[in-house]
Amino acid sequence: MKKYSLHISLIPALLLVMLWAPLTVTAMDTDDCLGCHGDTDMVDEELFIDAEGFLHTVHAEMGCDTCHESVTDEHPDDGEAITSSACLDCHEEVSDEYMATSHAENATCNDCHDPHQAHGLEAVSGTDMNQQCSQCHENDEVLSSHAEWLPQANLHLAKLPCITCHTSSDSYEVLLNITQKQSKTKGSTGYNFSTYADLKEYSGEKEIQSLIDINEDGHISLAELRTFNLNPAYKKLHLSGTLVPSEASHDLSTLDNRYDCTFCHAAGPGSLQTSFLAFPNATGTYTRMTVDEGAMLDTLYGTPNFYMTGSTRSASLNIIGLLIICGGFIMPIGHGTLRFLTRKNRQH
Ligand code: HEC
Ligand code: HEC
Ligand code: HEC
Ligand code: HEC
Ligand code: HEC
Ligand code: HEC
Ligand code: HEC
Repeated sequence: MKKYSLHISLIPALLLVMLWAPLTVTAMDTDDCLGCHGDTDMVDEELFIDAEGFLHTVHAEMGCDTCHESVTDEHPDDGEAITSSACLDCHEEVSDEYMATSHAENATCNDCHDPHQAHGLEAVSGTDMNQQCSQCHENDEVLSSHAEWLPQANLHLAKLPCITCHTSSDSYEVLLNITQKQSKTKGSTGYNFSTYADLKEYSGEKEIQSLIDINEDGHISLAELRTFNLNPAYKKLHLSGTLVPSEASHDLSTLDNRYDCTFCHAAGPGSLQTSFLAFPNATGTYTRMTVDEGAMLDTLYGTPNFYMTGSTRSASLNIIGLLIICGGFIMPIGHGTLRFLTRKNRQH
């Protein structure tokens, strides 16, 4: 009882300290900090922060000194060590969820996130997310362990974010990226995500979004998707699709239903109705644009380079697709057969 009242009485004092601390310690603002830390001539490589990247994150709105409270005006001459806030201070919910997993013993927040380049799920590509994992989980090892039960493990791991199978979400959505051919190396699908600069070569003066969003209404219709696919000028560009969780969760684990091919294939979760196209930004992040509902059902001719076996326009094809997959003589027969069966759709 006594402890409790003491605790309450401390709150105003604590608040005062919290409010004053950043104001009293330094008059330097984010630009001052970046004057040195954004320049490799001023600081060592390991203290360098990509200023352009940082300034485009929500963390930048708080300023450097919110997280590095102890920095003084005499920094760096005072030689004092600088404190860094813990993620937990501000992200309690995520922290609670993650700390409850056994994976918390294996990796901290900072192992997967750079606090100076923190982005939300919608701004990051599946490939970038998987790079967080591959710092510790060697691609070759992951490939061989998954290939024990997952056919085309190479294709699956290249296309799917690890978190689609290793975290839970209430729903999932289809994400399309623009890719272009590259020389095929091990562990790749032979296609690279197009960068902002790549696409700028095609769009010239115009926004890169206009390559697909022809009427520039901030939304992609099925007709626009098809026009893009059929335009000979863009013949080197391809759309690549994947399935991503609608929300990032941190309950890292192995989910039983991910052994189940029909989780993604066959008629698929209803969420396959929702799809987005991710356009690259100049800073390396992505901005999503919504695509007409049902784009998945249209993919056979809308986006000829991507389909989820089973998510086809006709119910009978779904069943055939399923039988092919579950029947055991997986690929390449399945692929060829489906392509053959759906050739009419693609000729539209
Ligand atoms: C005049 C250039 C300069 C400015 C301005 C500057 N820094 Fe530094 N900072 C340095 C150097 C040099 C070091 C390395 C110091 C050392 O190794 O003792 C450093 C080190 C750091 C470290 C790592 C310290 C550690 O204990 O590892 C942090 C964090 C940091 N600075 C944050 C900031 C923040 C936040 C600001 C703005 C409020 C800022 N710096 C402004 C030059 C600068
Ligand atoms: C959201 C909180 C947050 C903000 C905002 C933030 N930092 Fe940091 N910073 C951290 C954390 C946490 C670490 C410790 C990282 C670690 O231990 O791996 C860190 C580490 C550093 C380091 C040590 C080198 C490194 O990258 O680990 C420097 C230098 C630094 N910060 C400078 C800055 C500067 C300059 C700014 C503003 C441009 C800034 N920080 C903004 C949280 C933040
Ligand atoms: C001083 C408070 C504070 C600290 C400390 C902090 N964050 Fe954040 N962070 C925020 C706020 C505010 C947002 C924006 C709202 C939200 O997403 O919760 C945010 C957003 C994020 C995002 C999503 C960015 C986006 O664009 O949606 C990530 C990822 C993130 N933080 C990671 C971290 C990590 C990792 C750490 C620890 C190194 C950390 N944060 C420490 C305040 C903080
Ligand atoms: C095993 C890797 C991993 C660890 C550990 C991890 N995260 Fe994440 N986190 C991700 C991935 C992947 C995303 C999706 C977006 C991205 O990659 O930035 C994400 C997204 C986020 C977001 C944005 C959520 C949104 O709705 O977009 C926040 C905030 C965040 N993490 C905070 C944290 C905090 C705090 C911790 C530590 C308690 C933590 N993360 C530990 C992988 C991790
Ligand atoms: C800092 C290193 C590190 C990072 C980053 C990391 N992991 Fe792990 N992870 C480990 C270690 C260590 C283990 C335990 C040994 C093992 O199973 O390989 C583990 C175990 C696992 C397991 C199996 C055990 C379990 O908890 O179910 C899965 C699944 C997993 N990690 C997925 C991921 C995913 C997905 C990411 C990226 C979002 C990721 N990890 C990022 C270090 C890491
Ligand atoms: C199609 C769904 C799926 C995808 C995508 C996926 N995993 Fe898994 N993963 C699983 C399943 C299911 C298991 C359990 C396998 C078992 O019990 O043998 C597993 C097991 C694991 C394990 C523990 C066993 C081991 O291999 O050591 C790790 C670690 C792991 N995955 C990491 C990853 C990483 C990293 C990625 C992204 C590169 C990834 N997974 C992508 C479904 C997936
Ligand atoms: C988490 C979602 C997910 C799960 C679970 C999953 N897949 Fe896939 N699968 C995909 C995606 C995404 C592709 C790539 C589609 C594309 O780009 O062509 C794919 C592609 C394939 C292909 C190749 C089709 C082609 O175009 O060549 C086969 C075969 C396949 N999956 C079989 C399976 C089998 C069998 C299982 C169960 C053991 C399974 N998949 C589990 C999402 C999944």
